[in-house]
Amino acid sequence: MSSPLIFLKPILISVIIPVILGTVFYQLDSFDPASYPTHVLSTDPPIVAPKRNNQMLRRSEKIGVNQLLSPEDVAYDQNSGVIYTGCVDGWVKKVKVNESAADSTVEDWVFTGGRPLGLALGHHGEVIVADADKGLLLNVTSEGEIKVLTEEAEGLKFKLADAVDVAEDGIIYFSDASYKYNIEQYIYDFLEGRPNGRLLSYDPSTKQTKTLLSDLYFANGVAVSPDQNYVIFCETPLRKCKKYYIKGEKKRICGYVC
Ligand SMILES: *[C@@H]1O[C@H](CO)[C@@H](O)[C@H](O)[C@H]1NC(C)=O
Ligand SMILES: *[C@@H]1O[C@H](CO)[C@@H](O)[C@H](O)[C@H]1NC(C)=O
Repeated sequence: MSSPLIFLKPILISVIIPVILGTVFYQLDSFDPASYPTHVLSTDPPIVAPKRNNQMLRRSEKIGVNQLLSPEDVAYDQNSGVIYTGCVDGWVKKVKVNESAADSTVEDWVFTGGRPLGLALGHHGEVIVADADKGLLLNVTSEGEIKVLTEEAEGLKFKLADAVDVAEDGIIYFSDASYKYNIEQYIYDFLEGRPNGRLLSYDPSTKQTKTLLSDLYFANGVAVSPDQNYVIFCETPLRKCKKYYIKGEKKRICGYVC
């Protein structure tokens, strides 16, 4: 069946959408698009990750249905059986996992007032939160008190604090996806095609924030390797993840990035 709307579709695509996009970009006077340099774009065939257990999802039960809005990241505390997750309503939620999913409970734990995006367990019962909207790295103590750890590096404020992980030695690794665009504007960061992201570290013993790498394309997803030798970080629009060596043989041989 054809509807009258079908005749509108070409007009929508060829006229209305470009006019709307044009208006939006015109108003963003700092928007400065560039093509992605060819050397950063991968020509390698994509790596296919093996499915370790393709029965897993079939046997899984859903927890927190309709109670969790866009939970982006989780931190699981084995000792208490609690999953922490950050939601788009500004709350870090505590999900208490019970034997059956139906008995598991979700409760509002801490309201950051921003967008708690990346989460990781600290070594003192705290949850480290990268709040994208506020551009802050937070220490949420086991008592639920919020303390700002850091908000800038080398004078440049975070605008889209994204992912975080904590190494065994206590150093916190995290990313600022963009110093230029906030979370509502993230799509401009992709469309602009410029590297506005950073990989950073925060050392709680010295309270020092370091820029490990800058000029990254939407730095996202940070994980310290189990052997503590490197940190993996991803650049979303490039569809690439890289290793940043922090110690060990590889670092001695080829520096931070091989
Ligand atoms: C969790 O399960 C235990 C039994 O396995 C039960 O006693 C307890 O009430 C459950 N908790 C909740 C919140 O349902
Ligand atoms: C977070 O705060 C708690 C309570 O003050 C403290 O014990 C812990 O070391 C802090 N964590 C970091 C990473 O600063």
